[in-house]
Amino acid sequence: MPSYYSLGRLPPKRHTQFRKPDGGLFQEEIFGTEAFSGVYSTLYHYNPPTRVSHIKKLKDLAVIPWRPDIHRHHHVRTKDLEPAGNPVEGRQPLFYNNDVFISSVRPTEGMEWFFRNAQGDELYFVHEGRGVLESVFGVLPFKPGDFIVVPRGTTYRFSLEDRKNRFLVAESAGPVEVPRRYRNDYGQLTELAPFCDRDFRRPEKLVTHDEAGEFEVKVKVENSLMSYIFNFHPLDVEGWDGYLYPWIFNVNDFEPITGRVHQPPPVHQAFEAPGFDVLAFVPRKLDYHPLAVTVPYNHSNIDSDEILYYVSGDFTSRKGIEIGSFTLHRRGVHHGPQPGALEASVGKEATNEMAIMVETRKALKVTSVAERFDDATYPFSWLTPTVK
Ligand SMILES: [Fe+2]
Repeated sequence: MPSYYSLGRLPPKRHTQFRKPDGGLFQEEIFGTEAFSGVYSTLYHYNPPTRVSHIKKLKDLAVIPWRPDIHRHHHVRTKDLEPAGNPVEGRQPLFYNNDVFISSVRPTEGMEWFFRNAQGDELYFVHEGRGVLESVFGVLPFKPGDFIVVPRGTTYRFSLEDRKNRFLVAESAGPVEVPRRYRNDYGQLTELAPFCDRDFRRPEKLVTHDEAGEFEVKVKVENSLMSYIFNFHPLDVEGWDGYLYPWIFNVNDFEPITGRVHQPPPVHQAFEAPGFDVLAFVPRKLDYHPLAVTVPYNHSNIDSDEILYYVSGDFTSRKGIEIGSFTLHRRGVHHGPQPGALEASVGKEATNEMAIMVETRKALKVTSVAERFDDATYPFSWLTPTVK
């Protein structure tokens, strides 16, 4: 969680009179977690955020599960996922459990309306595409490589600038945060962390819309999408301050921690959330012990499931992997260097691969969408020598 921040005009003291240009009072909102005990922000609206004029249910968002008969690794190739829809309704669900829901989306259009996820905190990884996330907290431009953290309950929308867009989306049952072990008692990132406070991007400016009209906010709750109609523009905030707001960290600002011998996966950790961790494997120098083996050791992640999403670089050491591929390595079943990779790694000094990992404590379920893109030969890809 980044630190205290504010944008726009604020009264000198909280919970005191703050007047609009016409003499009326601004409407104060406390946007906070854990009832009123967790992190929060205080916002000042032109209109009461309670003033809804119409509500209806739009649709159920329940996924169609895929129940494979056998417990095995998966390779889900989403490179050719069809581009469609907007960043919210175009999401194609792939993997899920009670803690996290992972989708891929290749949106072709932005949003005229607004969205509020009342069910989960959101982490986007912008694989391809540029645009702007516009929220009650202000305007936050995004670009490839950005992790966008959107706290649950934030009213926002995306506008897209590129024709090609591809986002990975993780919806979390709890807040997505910077790992506690990277922070000191004051929340500041320590010198041991692979990134620093200066690397966070916060909303750049607050654009206040004091406009009447008909505005729709689509609210996700209980795996359903609701439509709330307001007769004022929902981004009507004159000023806000606090600790809870959308922010961005770009994966290219992750400074890899390397060593003489192979470093364990936790050195790549970027975020933590209840029940799962997110790791960033970025281009880096490889292990420099004269006898170093620079590929990961075999392991069977005995108490976690592990998704790796391939972003860019040379994946040729892994059979059949391509950009947009997901591998899901199941608990209790080994994975490791593919045939030939161990020998080929000797003397290799650097890697240009970039991949994002999501490691979950609870087992992941797979969806019917994942089934469509699943390569059933993957569990046997360690059999045949392919790497020279
Ligand atoms: Fe692994």
